[in-house]
Amino acid sequence: MKTSNKACQECINPDCKARFDCSQALFKCPRCGELLDIRYNWDKIQVPNRLDEFARRWANRNNRLDLSGVWRFRELIDFCDDKDRVTIGEGQTILQQNDALAKQIGLKPGCLHLEYEGLNPSGSFKDNGMAAAFSHAKMIGVKSSICASTGNTSASVALYAHSCSIKCTVFIGSGRIAFGKLSQAMDYGAQTIQIKGDFDDCMHQVQQVCKKLGMYLLNSLNPFRLEGQKTIMYRIIEQLGWQVPDWIIVPGGNLGNSSAFGKAFDELKLLGLIDKIPRLAIINATGADTLTDLVNNKGLTWNAGRTDNSIIDSYYADLTKRNFSPHTCASAIEISRPVNLKKCLRSIDICNGIVRAVSDEEICDAKALVGKYGLGCEPASAATIAGLRHLLTEGIIKPTEKIACVLTGHPLKDPDVTVNYHKDQQGQFSNAPIEVDNDLEKIISLIQP
Ligand code: F0G
Repeated sequence: MKTSNKACQECINPDCKARFDCSQALFKCPRCGELLDIRYNWDKIQVPNRLDEFARRWANRNNRLDLSGVWRFRELIDFCDDKDRVTIGEGQTILQQNDALAKQIGLKPGCLHLEYEGLNPSGSFKDNGMAAAFSHAKMIGVKSSICASTGNTSASVALYAHSCSIKCTVFIGSGRIAFGKLSQAMDYGAQTIQIKGDFDDCMHQVQQVCKKLGMYLLNSLNPFRLEGQKTIMYRIIEQLGWQVPDWIIVPGGNLGNSSAFGKAFDELKLLGLIDKIPRLAIINATGADTLTDLVNNKGLTWNAGRTDNSIIDSYYADLTKRNFSPHTCASAIEISRPVNLKKCLRSIDICNGIVRAVSDEEICDAKALVGKYGLGCEPASAATIAGLRHLLTEGIIKPTEKIACVLTGHPLKDPDVTVNYHKDQQGQFSNAPIEVDNDLEKIISLIQP
């Protein structure tokens, strides 16, 4: 069967809905400029009747596609042939039930689950998306790839590009990237260009460069990337014994994840594979809270795809007028013009979603809690726990509800924030090291066994 029969690219604008073959590299609708989706012809795909049928692939983990936490679910992201599917072992993540952290923040035992996406090969959730996008790149014979990044995208792109022998350039904002991530981009051999500006500047430039040089874009404007990120939701459901939680909580930056998650649930419901869609909470940092402001204060909604563009345009015009640049210690989500805004609004609509913003102090305290009671995460990921604490206080989330927080990045991505928090006693969970003379008596006097 030709792949083009199974899937196509489709404009999200209901007044356009233009369709394009998957053999093209398009990052916006050539007709109207809106975002593109991957649409499947489900009649042509043999999707299992029940989600738990995917579990049989666990017995076949010496098949590289069955081992991959992305391609294990390949019938739900079926836009290319097996020979083109790229994997470096992504998606071996765990969903941890964490009762100790649950107790600390006021949830009942068995209710809080942490999805550790930092366990991916490059240390963040991005690898889910790159497995899919690089498969598309391979399918259409791409030679040269590029992205703008707050760090994790660049690390992941660099890793996948070199594993596929595709050239790779990454744009990062000078001084805006955590060292763990910068070290990866350089180590994995990417041409690393530091632009004197923020992520939004890099994102603008990378789109111009793509147009001029015809390079393949790996940011989440690439609709194939979001197909890979849908699998984070499949794995959460899988690890809950094929049950859907009450809430998914995710940090919001460029809004790729939230966009992908809504699409994942919409499709699963359409296919009759789930009977309920969880609620989605998207958490911004207060220093980069465009989504929160637009949704909670300016009344922006999906509106069946006919979003009021004038609200967005005047909001961005004001940011430009004020020369606004976002600032948060959660550098991964330091973004003020999220490219997937409209798809995210659609997810909010699908998942009865809500949006909140949390301060840097709340993020750092929450991060320390994930470290103390769990496996740790980077600052942006901890926004989920900080947001959850808000939503519990507001009474929107109940202590008995089943929650999955997506911890998007590994704790070692950004050791500076962690060390400063603990060493400089910045928060209520700081755990500073103690310095002592090289003297046994003095050392013993410090220890309380
Ligand atoms: N968490 C981490 C650790 C991230 O790296 C990012 C985004 C997000 C959350 C936000 O996800 O964009 O899907 O809303 N990082 C991008 C990057 C922007 O360039 O690495 P989103």
